[in-house]
Amino acid sequence: MKLQGKVALVTGGGRGLGEGIVKRLAEAGCNVAVVDCIEENAKKVAADVQAMGRKAIALKVDVTKWDQVRNMVKETVEKLGGLDIAVNNAGVISIMPVEELSEEDWDFVIDVNVKGVFLCCKAVIPHMKKQNWGRIINTASIAGKIGFPDLAHYTASKFAVVGFTNALAKELARTGITVNAICPGIIGTQMWYGGAGLAEKWKAAGETMEESWKRHQESLIPQGVAQTPEDMGDLAVYFATSPHVTGQAVAVDGGMTLG
Ligand SMILES: NC(=O)c1ccc[n+]([C@@H]2O[C@H](COP(=O)([O-])OP(=O)(O)OC[C@H]3O[C@@H](n4cnc5c(N)ncnc54)[C@H](O)[C@@H]3O)[C@@H](O)[C@H]2O)c1
Repeated sequence: MKLQGKVALVTGGGRGLGEGIVKRLAEAGCNVAVVDCIEENAKKVAADVQAMGRKAIALKVDVTKWDQVRNMVKETVEKLGGLDIAVNNAGVISIMPVEELSEEDWDFVIDVNVKGVFLCCKAVIPHMKKQNWGRIINTASIAGKIGFPDLAHYTASKFAVVGFTNALAKELARTGITVNAICPGIIGTQMWYGGAGLAEKWKAAGETMEESWKRHQESLIPQGVAQTPEDMGDLAVYFATSPHVTGQAVAVDGGMTLG
């Protein structure tokens, strides 16, 4: 197995893309710290990983709080015996034109999506430097490559993640640590397919959420079908096993960013 015995940590691991990334890393041989601000979801995914024969712990952490993030790394190292791969995936969205966007909405999205990634990277670097080996994988978005209306704040946060990833990769290039970003396209997680998700918010008049979801897949994605959480897990495994790939922001988007 490609990553046998490596220890991975995945934030936002309790559902959605994070869950797919956790499962693919576990299939590749990793023991996993499943981190989420919703504890029961983290526990459920950690139990699934244990059922696959790997070690797993669930940690309730808000990635915007430095004390909690620092403790997350400490507990992972203590309980799983190390930390090799950090997937900084937790993220939030809100959907609003700029003129209606409140400062609170701006701060919330920027805090989780940008500060959260910064704090999680800051916390893992000293440990990875000591072992001269590490893989940092940040979840950005295709909104880190192109802008979307009503998502200017979210787009700004994901461009920031891509820029941060590029700069940090250069900063750490001689340390044995690689830093890359996953840029997902459209996946039917709660971000898209749920009460407060994009398919609901971007419904046309008279359309059901299901019809809106189908229309968006067909109109926005050249391949016509959404990607899956497991697709993102496959890219995470690729980054984790690729020593000479660093500073990249790779889209898994069915061709959405082809132009
Ligand atoms: N779903 C998509 O189409 C899509 C597309 C591009 C990028 N993304 C990105 O993928 C990542 C995962 O999104 P998803 O679609 O799985 O959404 P999701 O809402 O299903 O999952 C996000 C997870 O992050 C957790 N989380 C939120 N805030 C947190 C915090 N402060 N601390 C710790 N955990 C927190 C949530 O509890 C949840 O488990 C995000 O960074 C998102 O921006 C998603």
